[in-house]
Amino acid sequence: MLCNISFSVFFFLLIPSLLLAASPFPHGGKATMKLTKPGSKTGAADLLSSKRYEGSSDFVHLRYHMGPVLSSPINLYLIWYGPWPAALQAPLRDFLLSLSDPSSPAPSVAQWWSTVTLYSDQTGANVSRQVNVAAEAHLPGLSRGNSLSRLGVQHVIADALAARAVPVDHGRGAYLLLTAPGVTVQDFCRAACGFHYFTFPSLVGHTLPYAWVGHSGVQCPDVCAYPFAVPTYMAGVGAMRPPNGDVGIDGMVSVLAHEMAELSTNPLVNAWYAGEDPTAPTEIADLCEGVYGSGGGGGYTGQVSKDEMGRSYNMNGRNGRKFLVQWVWSPALKACRGPNALD
Ligand SMILES: *[C@@H]1O[C@H](CO)[C@@H](O)[C@H](O)[C@H]1NC(C)=O
Repeated sequence: MLCNISFSVFFFLLIPSLLLAASPFPHGGKATMKLTKPGSKTGAADLLSSKRYEGSSDFVHLRYHMGPVLSSPINLYLIWYGPWPAALQAPLRDFLLSLSDPSSPAPSVAQWWSTVTLYSDQTGANVSRQVNVAAEAHLPGLSRGNSLSRLGVQHVIADALAARAVPVDHGRGAYLLLTAPGVTVQDFCRAACGFHYFTFPSLVGHTLPYAWVGHSGVQCPDVCAYPFAVPTYMAGVGAMRPPNGDVGIDGMVSVLAHEMAELSTNPLVNAWYAGEDPTAPTEIADLCEGVYGSGGGGGYTGQVSKDEMGRSYNMNGRNGRKFLVQWVWSPALKACRGPNALD
């Protein structure tokens, strides 16, 4: 809906047959990577909402495809590409460190993560509750330029490994490439706000799960930082105030959360997803795009909170921070779920 009104009409007419077969969103050519699509308000949850649970539906057949999940304690390696002010890094780092921090008050980021840990693989191992930020690489010099192709993202990861800024960590490592406000990435703002996949031995020397997320603040906040910015055609819908004071960063937090949930439950793109097409899988966060609270769906974020400054959020993290993060699909409820659910 955010990228093109006609998509929602198209989508509406063809559910449920189309829903599981393909995504109507543009994938920008061959969809060889899992994308977080812009226009994130038009997830399956919008179309299949029930009164009982947001997005609950018998039409969603999330399936397990026999591959592994990230079941060992997860070591995150952050790769900051381009000029990144420290003040902008801090909320993102705090969000990631909050995933396994049980000390934040409810509703918490750790409670949000507990829905992701409900997923297990054929060995009976669940997604790990423990997520660490193990090391960080800072590449302010734009060694691969100001405009990355999709494969360029893997080249940057290869550079960080070659420079020993981050180690090769088989089994536990997940690599997060975070591009600074001015850096453009192929399909960013058009087909993707973020994506996850795994690196190729031919480019990086190893098969390692990774995700990329970009700061959309100056490039396309109305596409990738909704609901902190809204497109002009959505007249009458007011933008929410970002809880950490930066539209691009607060939008990035939810996209990062989306990618973390999918990277962990589908790291090699052969574990948990719906649909028959592995080149365009519908994963656990795709099913709940645009849903941030009870009643969410169909263009409404759902019930969220406001702090004393009028900034919107739905969960708490470490250092007293607040975040607004989309919900994810619960395999137990067969519906979207988040820690701020009212029921
Ligand atoms: C592990 O996954 C199973 C389902 O596969 C679930 O029933 C169980 O609650 C999960 N355990 C934790 C600790 O989340």
